[in-house]
Amino acid sequence: MKSIIPAAGLGTRFLPATKCGPKELLPVLDKPVIQYVVEEALEPKGVDGVVIVNSHDKPQIEKYFAHDEEFEQMLRSRGKDDLADKVCEAASLPVSFVYQDEPKGLGHAVYCAASEMDGDPFFVLLGDYFVPDRQMCVNMAKVSAAHNGASVIAVAPVPADQVSRYGIIAGSCVESLPGTTACDEEEGAVWKVTGLVEKPKPEEAPSHLFIVGRYLLSPRIMDLLADQGTGAGGEIQLTDAMERLLKEEEMYALVVDPDQGCDTGTPAAWAATNARMALADPTQVEAFKEALGKGVRLG
Ligand code: G1P
Repeated sequence: MKSIIPAAGLGTRFLPATKCGPKELLPVLDKPVIQYVVEEALEPKGVDGVVIVNSHDKPQIEKYFAHDEEFEQMLRSRGKDDLADKVCEAASLPVSFVYQDEPKGLGHAVYCAASEMDGDPFFVLLGDYFVPDRQMCVNMAKVSAAHNGASVIAVAPVPADQVSRYGIIAGSCVESLPGTTACDEEEGAVWKVTGLVEKPKPEEAPSHLFIVGRYLLSPRIMDLLADQGTGAGGEIQLTDAMERLLKEEEMYALVVDPDQGCDTGTPAAWAATNARMALADPTQVEAFKEALGKGVRLG
């Protein structure tokens, strides 16, 4: 079973920094954002590979996940085995690449990886966000296992005036994740999905639960994406193909706390994520606080 990470976007929100370097390689502490997402994508039982949907304009991502023996040897010859090990670890992750050279939307990006899925269910993880404890997809897999392998998406409450930025679900709460008593829009509640709409107007939103960017999907979605027309924003939307999937198969949504994960989608969110990760890292926290204390007053 594989996980897909779409990574062909232009990174316009990070210009000028992303003029000649992909946003996926921006660091959070000493690791690029996409490595956190890859590690999260490999966490659920049964996932043995990650397919990154890249564009040919960003060869640096492939270079990052490839071995460079000369470079690793050079580090070792200088006594920097710890760094060589870290470099080697990233290159040892089971990552492969397919290409999306036209920005036709998330549905199209996912479909670009169709031939790599071997007809199995698969995860999709959007790359502007990562979950440090890597448990969100693991919990989604538990919900799927309890429902015959049905598709499961992570959702979370969003204020009414922001629904038009996201995919929104319709449905009702049917149970809770084992070990919790959650209901409605509480973390751990499980909804049976009856409809999905991409970027609705506030008055047309069927609920306040938005799709967070973590999907566990039935292989049937690839057949539907093959002839999916354009939707919101003139793009081929994954949400629209999922709405069609609902007519054939059951789908569930797990309510999550989006703050379980870290957002790296804008410069401010990325900076806050670096701070959060530094404060949580025993090897960095003291130096970080000292550095932050120089010239910064919070509040
Ligand atoms: C995509 C999805 C949307 C989802 C969102 C989460 O939208 O199409 O359903 O809610 O990611 O970030 P995008 O952010 O690409 O517009």
